[in-house]
Amino acid sequence: MLGTYEAFKQSIYDMTKIDLNSYKERQMKRRIEALISKHNITSYQDYIVKLKNDKVIFDEFINYITINVSEFFRNPEQWALLEKEVFPYLMERFGKDIKIWSAACSTGDEPYSLAMLLSKFLPLNKIKIIATDIDRTVMDKAKIGLYSDKSLKDLPEDFLKKYFNKINDRTYQISDQIKACVEFKQHDLLKDVYPSNCDLIVCRNVLIYFTDEAKNKIYQDFNKALKKDALLFVGSTEQIIQSQQIGFLNFKSFFYKKA
Ligand SMILES: C[S@@+](CC[C@H](N)C(=O)[O-])C[C@H]1O[C@@H](n2cnc3c(N)ncnc32)[C@H](O)[C@@H]1O
Repeated sequence: MLGTYEAFKQSIYDMTKIDLNSYKERQMKRRIEALISKHNITSYQDYIVKLKNDKVIFDEFINYITINVSEFFRNPEQWALLEKEVFPYLMERFGKDIKIWSAACSTGDEPYSLAMLLSKFLPLNKIKIIATDIDRTVMDKAKIGLYSDKSLKDLPEDFLKKYFNKINDRTYQISDQIKACVEFKQHDLLKDVYPSNCDLIVCRNVLIYFTDEAKNKIYQDFNKALKKDALLFVGSTEQIIQSQQIGFLNFKSFFYKKA
């Protein structure tokens, strides 16, 4: 690829405020170069010109680098733990008015799963989940709430019946009652102010793309955003190394408690 990746990162930052320095470089560069080559472009500069002038190419780029694959009840065994042990613990410790943040929520599968599971414990009008992502377009999709059967494969049958309308053989739309439990906001984990006094933060399958330095800073910021004894729920490949130094204790697999 002609031109330097350093200059490219700076141009992307100027255009989008997305800081590619905090994402693992080898992986990100390889992905971006593959995307650029797909358009038969051979230099970073030419691609930047395209990004500035072509909204479709720009949206494709943002979508591509943010990698927003998601699913309802992703890793179901962890959601079973959430239901059997984590929610009961949180309600016993903090009462029924719990503040939950789904950080890097993508197309809404995760916060909507949280709302449905919580409906086993609380009336829907008492459920409020903050859901954030850097990418506005995924949250626009979340608000529309149309999902393919692929992202619903681990959704329990009773939730499908209760909270979805079938649109066609392969597409379902989530009900307005569940939508009303979730508030979507744009938020960049690398630079925006975090919510405070959270009882549960769910952040899964995004920190794997960040450098160790960026990850550590985010874990520290999550720690500050939680109440004492509150919990952080991470993805299935995202154990926190040196969690104690950051102020976390192991609670259950993939759940950490603020010390
Ligand atoms: C693979 S999805 C994970 C979705 C969901 N948490 C799950 O586990 O199914 C990763 C999400 O992280 C978001 N993301 C990437 N960088 C981010 C950042 N700096 N701040 C907030 N969200 C970010 C992407 O837009 C994408 O929607």
